[in-house]
Parts: sequence; structure tokens; C-alpha cells
Amino acid sequence: MTRRAHLRQLARHLRRYLAWQKGQGTTSYVPADSEARKTLKARKKALQEQKLAELRAPTDEGSKESVERRPDRAAEPVSKPEPEPELPSPPAERKPEPTGPQKPETSKKAPSDGEVTASTPLWKKHDPIHEITGRRRKKADKAAAARKPTKQKKPPSKASPDGRPTPPLESTAGPSEPAGPPPAGPVGPSQAAPQTPAEKMEFLQNYLGECQRCALCEGRTNVVFGDGDPNARLLFVGEGPGRNEDRQGLPFVGPSGQLLTKMIAAMGFERGEVYITNIVKCRPPGNRNPAPLEIKECAPFLKKQIQVIEPEVIVTLGRFASNALLAKDEALGKLRGRWHEHMGAAVMPTYHPAYLLRNEDDRRFKRRVWSDLQMVMERLGRDSEENQ
Ligand code: URA
Repeated sequence: MTRRAHLRQLARHLRRYLAWQKGQGTTSYVPADSEARKTLKARKKALQEQKLAELRAPTDEGSKESVERRPDRAAEPVSKPEPEPELPSPPAERKPEPTGPQKPETSKKAPSDGEVTASTPLWKKHDPIHEITGRRRKKADKAAAARKPTKQKKPPSKASPDGRPTPPLESTAGPSEPAGPPPAGPVGPSQAAPQTPAEKMEFLQNYLGECQRCALCEGRTNVVFGDGDPNARLLFVGEGPGRNEDRQGLPFVGPSGQLLTKMIAAMGFERGEVYITNIVKCRPPGNRNPAPLEIKECAPFLKKQIQVIEPEVIVTLGRFASNALLAKDEALGKLRGRWHEHMGAAVMPTYHPAYLLRNEDDRRFKRRVWSDLQMVMERLGRDSEENQ
């Protein structure tokens, strides 16, 4: 069992034990109120700042080493300016890249007291929300890049439509996001976090951990972070995990997931070739819609997932996910069938597979979904399985 799986198991046991104790009336456990959360958050922030201060004072040797450890940057001059990543990178243990060039040998420096070392878990070394940035990865498929010459990363809009039932994901400066940009300091390319999309995604998942940021944690069994290829060209975003997903810790594995898998295959993709996630990562009790605060707490994680994946196309499934991602409040019938934009990706809203299952007799919805998916396939230069 991996260390992470072991930790998850421990957390699950602890939760069950607390729930049992609560049932017995033998515990004084009460969910943290907002005051307690605030205090915790302040303490967490102070700790992070202390860690960041340590990380921001690397030795020259350390800075150089972090460049040498990045095979894709080994030939670049140390002083080449680059706006991202924002934080210096500590000397980190790197996983071998299966297809990448050989990494140069680097000598290990003995850590001084209190210093972050290679054996420190990655998620303890970094401030994730600001650090999971990095350069645009090279797409394996250059033809794909050629097909999207106009794709540009736009900063997310700050518009906040007050009073709307589904708050925009752009309003992501939620209370759980480590506050503010890192303090000014000597940052540069030598301090860039040497992470591949897969590593970034793993790091983000570890940082989310056994999340307690909102009340959904109280009813869930597993956090459902997401699944698929972190390099995917196509990202599907649903609303939130259902019962099956909550049990298995994976998105879209129940009946609507099976239909989604068929839709993906009909588009000419393997399920593992795309990435699938949800607006919220924990199951809302009774499959209710996630509440605005729950979306707000989860939004930074979806935002970072999109930054890591850099999908060309995002398909939002259902009215709720489509409105939440696009910061709108419209009927799905008005949103679907045409392109929208979010964080540099083309967005196609379509009906949720669960909606199709509920309206199986009405073939209009299936036809509409298929028409939406064909627009996606065309954009991605894919033939459907029927045409292969
Ligand atoms: N419905 C969703 O929106 N997401 C899932 O993961 C499963 C069902």
C-alpha cells in the first residue's frame, strides 16, 4: 500500500471512529464553526509563510541544482527571464521521465536544520495554489497545436454576478486559497518547480488531501478529485460525485458514467485519453446541487486542474456545471450547441448523461448531445468510432 493510500485509510478510520463516538454520545467532537476555521486558516497561513520564507532563500548552489534537475531546461541560461512559476523551487526529488532526455547527475547537498529536503513530501514544500503554474508544456501532438493557432490564455474575468444561484468559478479567491501572491523576493527560472503535468496533478491532489474546507466533507466517503490523462486535449466537467463515485473515489463510474464512457468512445477517444472531473469534489448529500460556498471552496482546485491540463476543449455536462464554469445563469438549451471560452479553452456545454438516462424516450436530447459532441470532434480533428 502506498503511503498516500495508507494515510487515506487512516483518515477514513478516524472519521468512522469519530462518527461512531458521536453516535455513542461519548465525544465532544463538533464540526469546526466559522471562528475556529478562521483561526485554523490563520495558523496555516502563518506556517506557510514561514515555509515560503525558508524556500525563498536558496543558496546559489541550490538554485542551479534545480535547473539542472529539469531535463527540459538543462540547456537554458540560468538567468533567462520567465514570469512563471512565481516561487523558487527547493531541490526536489524528481521522478524519472519515461520518455524525456537523461537527467544530468547532481550531487546531493546535506540539508541544514529545518531545511526542506528531497524527502519532505512535495505538498509540504510548496504553496500549491500559486506554485502550480509552470510553463506551457510541449504538446506531444504538434499537429494539434497547429490546429489551434488562435488559442490564447486569457486571465479569468473577475465578474461576480451577485445574486446568481451558481457563483462563477472565476471568483476563486476562496478562503482556502493561500492568501495573496508570495512576498517579493529573488525569483527566477532557477527556482521554477520542475513538475510535469502528471506530477502537478498528483501534487494538487495531495494538497486537496482529505479536504475539510466545507461541510461536504462530513457526508462523503471519498474525495473524488478527477481521473484521466493530465495531458488531455479534452476535459469533461460534471456537477459533483454521486453515490457510486463517492464510494469508489472516481468520477462518473455509476450509470451516468457508463453512458459518458460510451459517449467518449463514440467520439473516437479512450476514456483514459481524456480527463474527467467535477465542479465539486465531494458528494453533496442526497445528490442535491452543490451550494455556492461549497463551489467557492472547490473552485481553486478545478481552476488549477484546468491550468495543469490546458485542455483545448472542455465539455461541461448539464446546466449546473455549465453555468458554474461559465459564470452564467442560463437554460442549458441556450448554452449548448455553440462555443464558449474559459481559461483559454473552448467550452461546449451539453446535456448531462443522467438527464439523457432520465429522458431515454425522448430522442431529441440524444441527438442534441451527439451534435454537440460532433462539434467537439471536429474541433479536435477526430473521427467518430463509426467512421474509423
Ligand atoms: N454526476 C456527476 O455530475 N458527476 C459524477 O462524477 C457522477 C455523476
